[in-house]
Amino acid sequence: MSEWLVPAHVDRSKVVDFDLFEDRRFAQAESPHAALYALNKEAGCGIYWSPHNRGHWMVTSLELAHEVAKNTELFSSTEMTLPPMPPELEPKLIPLNLDPPEHRRYRLPLTTAFAPRRVAALEGMVRSYAVELIEAVAKGKRCDFVHAIAEPFPIITFMRLMGMDTTRLHEFRTWITDLMSPDESPRARAYQNIRLMMGELIEARLARREDDLISFLLDTPIDGRPPTVEEMHGYAMLLFAAGLDTVANALAFSMSHLASDQALQEQLRTDPSLIPKAVEEFLRLYGVPIPPRTVTRDAEFGGVHLKKGERVALVLPAANLDPEAFPQPYRLDLTRSNSKHVAFNVGPHTCAGRYLARMELRVLLEEWFARMPNVRHDPESTRQYRLGLTLACIKLPLVWD
Ligand code: HEM
Repeated sequence: MSEWLVPAHVDRSKVVDFDLFEDRRFAQAESPHAALYALNKEAGCGIYWSPHNRGHWMVTSLELAHEVAKNTELFSSTEMTLPPMPPELEPKLIPLNLDPPEHRRYRLPLTTAFAPRRVAALEGMVRSYAVELIEAVAKGKRCDFVHAIAEPFPIITFMRLMGMDTTRLHEFRTWITDLMSPDESPRARAYQNIRLMMGELIEARLARREDDLISFLLDTPIDGRPPTVEEMHGYAMLLFAAGLDTVANALAFSMSHLASDQALQEQLRTDPSLIPKAVEEFLRLYGVPIPPRTVTRDAEFGGVHLKKGERVALVLPAANLDPEAFPQPYRLDLTRSNSKHVAFNVGPHTCAGRYLARMELRVLLEEWFARMPNVRHDPESTRQYRLGLTLACIKLPLVWD
């Protein structure tokens, strides 16, 4: 472990050799979540200093995760890159990268747009996409679940919700994949293309409103005035970043669990009323984002000394496996009360799309069990994961009889 990545104010007992992007535990464990569970068992849940990625704090206990998320005065969202980028290169996603009180003004229109009543009205449309995708897969005896379902399903739903032209699905899907690329040039190209497409859509809706999210946001004032075109672009970019990869990965991790548990598949097919409970357990067990915060001033917190400017990774997927909060945390338990889990975080930045996300997961599983026999992991092809601030399952080969 490199000593220079451990500053003098950090107590040595609080240093844990864990690298969020390429830790040795990830190579040894069967999945990213198994690796985080191994970390919890080894170090205990709490707040630790990771000497990797230029050094940062990691919060892995549920209680401290709640405290960090709610204390926006000490933990700011204005700089969320890790490893840290120069301030001028920090993304400015609205309202993700804003702190209260400014955050609230921009968040309100999204809270209304994704309220339970509006999400419920989308269910029929979401269900018809789920059926279409599953029926295409059901004709065969194997598939890569990520390519066939987990990835396109939230994208089609989202395009329809926004009011985008779904005949451009293929093109748009390529851009979304490029947007998640670790390389700069495909990311920049995708960003330009999406911006162009969104620009055309915003212009069209400015001229004539339709029954879609863009029209709704155009008519929802920010501080008593209509949003500017630039603010509309800001919303659109955040929604792409926040609402596509997350649902795709939550779905893929859930299906991966199911493929290893034949009895659970039987149980959910026989009694679909258990599916919402299963969705909640999947969300807890297989958290996706690890959002960072930046410390705003020197302070004592959770028994450690924090210095202004330090990054704190909210390792929400590890906090959801905290044995203090969830007995036998790495076990799926349909009778568990999950009210405290942080899959969507808590506090002012709680996921604005959580009702939509839950509905997408539930509907997809309902239609899956209505049409598909039990599935297993394909013994001839391996699962693939991607680590980092979004835990991802990028390939999930399945077979069935
Ligand atoms: C299973 C799927 C999803 C998961 C696990 C998830 C998780 C999260 C988490 C943990 C945050 C908090 C980030 C932070 O504290 O910095 C967040 C924020 C957000 N999410 Fe989601 N999300 C999901 C789906 C969605 C969907 C479908 C949408 C909308 C289309 C969405 C829109 C947002 C927005 C707008 C924010 C920013 C909220 C703010 O800063 O006030 N998410 N999400």
